[in-house]
Amino acid sequence: MSWKSKDLLTLEELSAGEIAHVLDTASSFKEVSTRSVKKVPALRGRTVVLFFHEPSTRTRISFELAAKRLSADILNVQAASSSLVKGETLIDTLKTLESMTIDALVVRHKSSGVPQMLASVTKASVINAGDGSHEHPTQGLLDLFTIRERKGKIEGLTVTIVGDITHSRVARSNIYGLTKLGARVRLCAPPTLLPVGIEKMGVEVYHDLDKALEGADVVYVLRLQLERQKNNLFPTIREYSMTFGVNNERLKRARKDAIVMHPGPMNRGVEISSGVADGSQSVIDDQVTNGVAVRMAVLYLLQGETNEKPS
Ligand code: CP
Repeated sequence: MSWKSKDLLTLEELSAGEIAHVLDTASSFKEVSTRSVKKVPALRGRTVVLFFHEPSTRTRISFELAAKRLSADILNVQAASSSLVKGETLIDTLKTLESMTIDALVVRHKSSGVPQMLASVTKASVINAGDGSHEHPTQGLLDLFTIRERKGKIEGLTVTIVGDITHSRVARSNIYGLTKLGARVRLCAPPTLLPVGIEKMGVEVYHDLDKALEGADVVYVLRLQLERQKNNLFPTIREYSMTFGVNNERLKRARKDAIVMHPGPMNRGVEISSGVADGSQSVIDDQVTNGVAVRMAVLYLLQGETNEKPS
């Protein structure tokens, strides 16, 4: 399959075949990170700009590593030390970067829709690294990759996503990806943390965590996004943790071979206990490892697959 789109903005816009193609491409790149010289020349001569307007550890660093392992040149543009603070618009900043002939822009922004807006005014590939509470497509892809790697398939699995669905761009990308690939998706949260009408996305809604976990193959725990809570959407963190926190006792409801996932960063003792996060069913470290391979695949595919793949 040849890649058609210039950008990666959402998983909503990708077909099941395109998602599978990214995952297959990531499989062939994963081995590069195990070599003593962790580098292939696939994007030699290309320039990738990392443009993050919100804090990030995993996404920013794994995109930087991915681009370096593909031999691209990297620019980190920090909003706080750029002319944005003097009032320059995002579009003028992008046009300035474009005048210096960049090839790809990886953007994270607190406002939903910013990557789409930038993609519409540049010839460079734009990759959404998380926009507001809209989507985080590369997180969704690395999660799908990790599930497929651990379970051998995605179709037919029962995946329970628990936590702050309303504010979660990770949940939205995962719902699109998982349902396109044939998983059965259960969402579990207090009603105040679930968008009205979310069932239209082809998911089942639960408010009782024990029922939502019954027989699950994958337990996906979301971070409680305290920084996005404007109103008091639950009484106290302690009560949230008692009702919706995943601990080892609760996890027994899921299948014995269920895997536990979390996009990070975790609020240990709030949405997930340390016993579960560090336990034998946790694949949270695998998610981080796989993020590099998936982001290598995305950068490679968007740049036209014209150069060499790993050999
Ligand atoms: N999962 C995720 O997006 O983590 P960061 O905010 O650390 O990039």
